[in-house]
Amino acid sequence: MDRIRIVGGQRLHGTIRISGAKNAALPLMIASLLTKDTLTLHGVPRLADVTLLSRILGNHGVDITIAGKRAGQSTSDGQTFKLTAAEIVDTTAPYEMVARMRASFWVLAPLLARCGEARVSLPGGCAIGTRPVDLHLTALEALGASIELDGGYVIAKAPKGLIGGRVHLAKVSVGATHNALMAAVLALGDTVIENAAREPEVADLAACLVEMGAKIEGIGTSTLHIEGVPSLHAAEHAVLPDRIETGTYAMAAAITGGDVFLEGARADLLQEALDILRTSGVEVEETNFGIRVARNGHGLGPVSVETQPFPGFPTDLQAQLIALMCTASGVSEVRETIFENRFMHVQELARLGARIDLKGDTALVTGVNGLRGAQVMATDLRASVSLIIAGLAAQGETTIGRVYHLDRGFERIEEKLRHCGAHIERLSG
Ligand code: UD1
Repeated sequence: MDRIRIVGGQRLHGTIRISGAKNAALPLMIASLLTKDTLTLHGVPRLADVTLLSRILGNHGVDITIAGKRAGQSTSDGQTFKLTAAEIVDTTAPYEMVARMRASFWVLAPLLARCGEARVSLPGGCAIGTRPVDLHLTALEALGASIELDGGYVIAKAPKGLIGGRVHLAKVSVGATHNALMAAVLALGDTVIENAAREPEVADLAACLVEMGAKIEGIGTSTLHIEGVPSLHAAEHAVLPDRIETGTYAMAAAITGGDVFLEGARADLLQEALDILRTSGVEVEETNFGIRVARNGHGLGPVSVETQPFPGFPTDLQAQLIALMCTASGVSEVRETIFENRFMHVQELARLGARIDLKGDTALVTGVNGLRGAQVMATDLRASVSLIIAGLAAQGETTIGRVYHLDRGFERIEEKLRHCGAHIERLSG
């Protein structure tokens, strides 16, 4: 199993190119199931989750070609995927695949909308709480589907097609909004999705669906109006930049006291996180081409943060912020309101000398003078990258085990950090 070795203490300097967003690329790829024509996606990141989803979609009959690098392009330009679901050959998404990545559960709605039936295993993914799917199922029921649970599988049926209706999501859920949206675009008549997630990745999916011929209003708001259409058609779409990757490298630059330009990053996708960094004393400069993050000689101050659905502070940056606050002077308060079990990184950060007290859903982080390298273990995707952030600032050597979590969501992370002067390498076996 691969490990990552970091020798901390180097300031990051240089440019990091931000990749296409994992959390946008995955639902966009899934949307290809909704049409027999080709969906072309640009800027798809090279990630283990993308590879796994390609296999899952291939199982359903989606033909996927990946365009190679063209002259003048580098590997950091992402890939171009052409996905064609001319014929759906299998409406079952098996346990072996869905258990490894929660987002693959989202094939449920398009398979149901297109074929009138779907059998999808209950999902897996990062172990960050119970992560139920009740909201997904009630949304599909509101559009006329019959749902049964049998042997760990969701069996959804709508033999005469889905019918537009009112979907009220009791809680803001990114995945349930994706599923409801993909079901509604091909349903007969009008649908309203209330309390929809406003995350940029939902808006990106909606924008792509519109390019495919769907009729959607209210994109980017919490109320989506959809007028169903009989079919969708070919489209071409570029995946939006990854705001979580952006925030992660911003915090890496900040913890090392460096100066990094995040090329292609969009500040409007993570305004709250950038404001928190400014509050803490980090210099953040927004430009049309990216974001510059620097901390030239200033110390970090503590912050008080609560994770919230977009536009609030994202739960996917909570672990990274805690790592950063480990070196701030004073006590920071970080409250996790989205997932109940998302503090697994805390005990690993403690191995590096961090002082963090957990009180229910809140982490109280008391800044220390310096972190010290140690052997640690990645427990989930975002937790593993928080250990990298801490390792970059720690004195001496840090090795991080179980880095396969990292490969699910961060494209060429060692290369990007090394390019800015970090001493980081992957150890195989
Ligand atoms: C997505 C993101 C994940 C991010 C999360 C919250 C992807 C691939 N993953 O996950 O990185 O951390 O949004 O921004 O895009 N819930 C229910 N019932 C349901 C569905 C969800 O109670 O049927 C709860 C969850 O347990 C959680 C909250 O709703 O407490 C938000 O979860 P949700 O937005 O659905 O997260 P995901 O879509 O799984």
